[in-house]
Amino acid sequence: MLTTLKLRDFRCFATLETEFAPGANVIVGPNAQGKTSLLEAACVLLRLQSPRAATLGPLVRIGAAGFVVDGFYSGNHLQFYYSPRRKKLALDSVEQRSAAEYLHIGRAVWFSNADIALVRGPADERRRYLDFVAAQIDPGYRRHLRNYEKALRSRNRLLKTPAVRWREVAAFDEPLVTAGMALAQARSRLVAALEPLAVEAQRAIGGRAGELLAMRYEPGIGNEDFAARLTASREEDLRLRQTTVGPHRDELVLEINGHGSELASEGQQRTLALALRLAQARLIAERREALPLLLLDDIFGELDPARRNALLTHLPAGAQQIITTTHLDWAQAEIGRVFHLENRVLRVEY
Ligand SMILES: Nc1ncnc2c1ncn2[C@@H]1O[C@H](COP(=O)(O)OP(=O)(O)OP(=O)(O)O)[C@@H](O)[C@H]1O
Ligand SMILES: [Mg+2]
Repeated sequence: MLTTLKLRDFRCFATLETEFAPGANVIVGPNAQGKTSLLEAACVLLRLQSPRAATLGPLVRIGAAGFVVDGFYSGNHLQFYYSPRRKKLALDSVEQRSAAEYLHIGRAVWFSNADIALVRGPADERRRYLDFVAAQIDPGYRRHLRNYEKALRSRNRLLKTPAVRWREVAAFDEPLVTAGMALAQARSRLVAALEPLAVEAQRAIGGRAGELLAMRYEPGIGNEDFAARLTASREEDLRLRQTTVGPHRDELVLEINGHGSELASEGQQRTLALALRLAQARLIAERREALPLLLLDDIFGELDPARRNALLTHLPAGAQQIITTTHLDWAQAEIGRVFHLENRVLRVEY
């Protein structure tokens, strides 16, 4: 459970300090008051990653040098300072050289209206989804991902030079293959574990429509050996001046009732996005044997009552939740602790 959260120079907040209750915490406020930013801060504190930005630079308050997020989670004191030039992490007041131990503490699942992009958006949205889950259940995953991205960047940089020297490019093949194979195996296992959970959630939320979801991992290295694929694609790589095979081309294929999810109705797609998030919450709870913090950004107001109820009954029971909303009229009485956020001030309503 996240008991306290302190921010400095994070998005629109110069400073903010708050305490959260067990169960549901609802943050109510008009548009552009910082509701999503507050949830984002909780996510960054636990996972060092923003659910809505690929890099952390835009999270620094305009005009400030860097941000701080600080809080107590499951009795551990987490502190993270970020500026584009320097990052600093502390766990229980001990500065950390690597993020591994720090990241071992936090568990979080993010739900938002923008999740529809998981279904309709480009493949990198789905890869980011897989990475976010994998990093929370597989301790070695982040290292493989980092190593892969580093080798890929270096290799692509060389492929863009005017006179490409193939020997130099090929020097990155070995680290690329090692990390790439590890990633592909981890993602393949992850999709296999997520599928039954997502199928069940889709069926439960979709209700009488009897929607059957299928989920499949399509590796960007094909089904052959990655090293051989890499050698075989040299000409293509030279022509396009980038690495054309590898896990950065992975796809998570989603189908509803036997058809690609791009053919599904808007409602089915929204249900599917929700099912993916629920599967994530279930899997983290199962594997970590502890509940994740659920961060729900403005989704309840948008769901019809049937899907809202299905969602509520499908969330892992007992998990702490931070929920943002512009209005409370969807909520039943006694929803939990209610906060009001306006003019950058957060106060407990009841
Ligand atoms: N780096 C930044 N520095 C300063 N302000 C920022 C920064 N990034 C975003 N903002 C501002 O923070 C404000 C709050 O944004 P946020 O998305 O958190 O609002 P919200 O309460 O979730 O609104 P909505 O109900 O419309 O979703 C916005 O006015 C936005 O322009
Ligand atoms: Mg918002």
